[in-house]
Amino acid sequence: MAKTRAAITGVEGYVPDYVLTNQELETMVETSDEWITSRTGIKERRILKGEGKGTSVMGIKAVKGLLKKTNTNAEDIELIICATVTPDMTFPSTANVISAGVGAVNAFSYDISAACSGFLYALTTASQFVETGLYKKVIVIGADKMSSIIDYKDRTTCIIFGDGAGAVLLEPTEEETGIIDSIHKSDGAGAEFLNMKAGGSRYPATHETVDNMWHYARQDGATVFKFAVTNMADYAAKIMERNNLSADDVDWLVPHQANKRIVDATANRMGVTDNKVMMNIEKYGNTTAGTIPLLLWDYEKQLKKGDNLVLAAFGGGFTWGAIYLKWAYNS
Ligand code: UT7
Repeated sequence: MAKTRAAITGVEGYVPDYVLTNQELETMVETSDEWITSRTGIKERRILKGEGKGTSVMGIKAVKGLLKKTNTNAEDIELIICATVTPDMTFPSTANVISAGVGAVNAFSYDISAACSGFLYALTTASQFVETGLYKKVIVIGADKMSSIIDYKDRTTCIIFGDGAGAVLLEPTEEETGIIDSIHKSDGAGAEFLNMKAGGSRYPATHETVDNMWHYARQDGATVFKFAVTNMADYAAKIMERNNLSADDVDWLVPHQANKRIVDATANRMGVTDNKVMMNIEKYGNTTAGTIPLLLWDYEKQLKKGDNLVLAAFGGGFTWGAIYLKWAYNS
């Protein structure tokens, strides 16, 4: 009997309208378009504006678009997993809010917190439910409103991050497509280099935590960069090796969009040429859990059934990993 795999059968994204350009950032912090472009590859990012609007607003738009595009009834969805580090609230989960917002009344739902690797962790988790035959329609979302935790006076973070959401539908297939292999790792020793210190149980919000600016994401950029380059490239290479994939066999590298230089290092290590590397960092920046589904959304029309994709990510935690999948449809 053929193995049941979990295949992505549709993808949709959503980015807010407001465009924060490098030029506007030049008026906010000591930086330049030239520095940002050459050090990161980013030209602009999107920002979700409006009082009381959380990550779920973008997740709901992406999922509604996905349901429409794939001709799927919201009532038929059995499970929704949302990867995010910027949930609407500490609880309930943003996935619960999104489920209600799209009318997925028969689904159960929960969030996964793995920062920039969140979408990959969620995809691997969701795929298990499909491979075992338990569920037939599962949605995986990667969504972050990074602007809600960014200090727009800190030039080492505010130039990088943006807001956005992407969602995929996972369904079972007996064809030779879908998620073939995944490999993940985390190391909490990285917590000190990239975190948001307050707002959790260790430092609940007080006047002091606000005055100390502890409710913003902080990073030791150079250290994160070093670990990202090594681990993302290592894991992308590892998944190729254990699936006997040569650089020629790989049709697309789908890399987390943190910094163009990290992506280039990963592609080099794999031996994959630039024309096979999905990139959209220049227009969205780093949307944390949103980057990989937003890439799939942007490149969907270029993807062909049977294409070999290697997805790779590295982020806060530290967390990292790679997924090898065969694309399941022609658009
Ligand atoms: O998604 C996962 C999470 N994050 C990442 O993966 C981010 C990984 N790190 C990075 O992408 C890079 O480290 C950054 C883009 C954050 C910084 O680039 P860098 O090449 O590592 O710069 P640096 O931190 O080593 O700083 C070099 C110089 C410093 O000045 P001095 O000390 O040499 O005079 C910084 O103060 O660049 C300065 N600098 C800036 N200058 C203009 C730092 N940020 C800026 C800025 N504009 N925005």
